[in-house]
Amino acid sequence: MTRIRTQVGIVGAGPAGLTLAHLLHLQGIESVILERHSREYVETRVRAGVLEQGTVDILCNSGVGERLKREGLQHGGVELRFDGKGHRIDFQELVGKSITVYAQQEVVKDLIAARLCYGAPLRFEAEAIRVEGYDADPKIQYQHGGESHEISCDFIAGCDGFHGICRPTFPEGQLQIHERHYPFSWLGILARVPPASHELIYSYHERGFALLSMRSPEVSRLYLQCASDEDLNNWPDDRIWEELRTRMATRDGFKLKDGPIFQKGITPMRAFVASPMQIGNLFLLGDAAHIVPPTGAKGLNLAVADVRVLTRGLVEFYKHKKHQALAQFTERCLRRVWKCQRFSGWMTSMLHRFPQEDSFSHQIHLAELDYVTGSRAASTTLAENYVGLPFDTPGLF
Ligand code: FAD
Ligand code: PHB
Repeated sequence: MTRIRTQVGIVGAGPAGLTLAHLLHLQGIESVILERHSREYVETRVRAGVLEQGTVDILCNSGVGERLKREGLQHGGVELRFDGKGHRIDFQELVGKSITVYAQQEVVKDLIAARLCYGAPLRFEAEAIRVEGYDADPKIQYQHGGESHEISCDFIAGCDGFHGICRPTFPEGQLQIHERHYPFSWLGILARVPPASHELIYSYHERGFALLSMRSPEVSRLYLQCASDEDLNNWPDDRIWEELRTRMATRDGFKLKDGPIFQKGITPMRAFVASPMQIGNLFLLGDAAHIVPPTGAKGLNLAVADVRVLTRGLVEFYKHKKHQALAQFTERCLRRVWKCQRFSGWMTSMLHRFPQEDSFSHQIHLAELDYVTGSRAASTTLAENYVGLPFDTPGLF
């Protein structure tokens, strides 16, 4: 068994682990990242696409935003579509901010390239098997190249996603779980066809929700609400395009051109929060601690917000020997997490059809959408949350 020492041992090279390691590096704090998958796997895994202004600022101000600035698509609003008509929510006019469409795997690629460029440790195909000693002497045991290895560190950052090993190491009874399962999933596709709209369209329809998003001027990302136990085999490409056309139709003849679908997947909808997000010197960040339904596009942004809080705490600890910000990690993160859960849950219930909904519920959906798009106060509430709530502490970056 080989043993190494570092200041912060990070489990997981998703957005949370990679951003944390990068920000710590800039502050002169050492870390080692372990990732159980290969570099190719994490760089091609298709997930989120919408970055809040605050996330973009952190990436750009920390020197990994060059390609993001060049290739990211800046959007000043989104469309809510219902009853055959589209209504634009103008973020720029309402709250003076915008969002950027830039795929999660591109953020991951940029962060990996930066880390490898300055030669800091990032081990792929290195699976953490056990984390221990978080009270006094933190250690991570992992497997790499068929051999066992150990990292000893001051702190462990569990950035290992929802199915990781860090959260389950919290002792029985010391973790409170708040959870909600939605009775539907999202069927998502990537298609080689220019987006039919230059901004995102969230569409409510009697047959269910549909979303038009994009990855570039040539690639569309589209989603359909489907059953929670949906079988992808029941969705040949033609059926997907037909259903998208039905749910996105407008009375003035909106045209959705189809094109070759090169990726298809089903994402279950759940909301989940684990509390506390820390025990001793072990911290949980991103999906390891919380999952939001994707309707508010908050998952990746929340992971970066947790990173911001932990970075500040670790900087205070290493530079000024202060524990206070680390001690407040859970409280600071959860304030934002619960606001994002509220927003994502609200967007989800406003835009989706739930089982057993009747004509009364349908009219309530329409009335709510009519109110949100018709009232400046309600539109501003949506815009303020969608572009990202302000941080309650000043940032380091
Ligand atoms: P992850 O990205 O999950 O990264 C965790 C990393 O830890 C992974 O690379 C994993 O391989 C690694 N790991 C796990 N266990 C170990 C171990 N034992 N040892 C070493 N490494 C380990 N959000 C949106 O806003 N919009 C979307 O459309 C959207 N779509 C999604 C689709 C899917 C299928 C999923 C799963 C999530 C989606 N999300 C979406 C959510 C968003 O992608 C996540 O919130 C974001 O990835 C969180 O980043 P993270 O770094 O916390 O976790
Ligand atoms: C995406 O582009 O993948 C996306 C956009 C908005 C969402 C969710 C996903 O709310």
